[in-house]
Amino acid sequence: MKPDIKTRADIEKFIANFYDTVKADKTIGFIFTELVQMNWEKHIPLIVDFWETILLDHPVYKNNAMDAHFILNKKVPLQKKYFTSWLLLFNIAVDDLFEGEKATLAKTRAKSIADVMFFKMENTNQAL
Ligand code: HEM
Repeated sequence: MKPDIKTRADIEKFIANFYDTVKADKTIGFIFTELVQMNWEKHIPLIVDFWETILLDHPVYKNNAMDAHFILNKKVPLQKKYFTSWLLLFNIAVDDLFEGEKATLAKTRAKSIADVMFFKMENTNQAL
């Protein structure tokens, strides 16, 4: 039996796992390795803050996550297939290391946020 997500260090572990596979992914890898000049030292703590806020009920993330994606969506329209790959890799990264209530919460929240994000991006693209 795997442990559940309990600490910020646990979040750091599945996020590191996630980005290892994201960078190597044939569908969405290019976004992170070519399209965006990722500042990983800045990004990783931010995304860990994001998940700490959701999973550990500790509101350390103060940004609006949608904003970064609206900017990104202007460089490359964020299509359904990108969200499908993103979610698949996210779920695998969590399942590899953790199971339990928080692990399930991470996956269900990722899915609901991805659905809203796709809806917003698609609406913006249609309005252009
Ligand atoms: C097609 C799917 C997605 C792609 C390609 C994508 C890509 C990216 C990229 C390239 C950045 C960095 C932007 C920058 O620093 O310039 C970013 C930031 C971020 N992403 Fe995503 N993302 C996707 C979906 C999601 C989803 C579903 C979530 C949440 C569940 C999410 C949460 C975040 C957060 C919290 C940040 C940091 C925003 C900030 O505060 O600066 N992303 N994303």
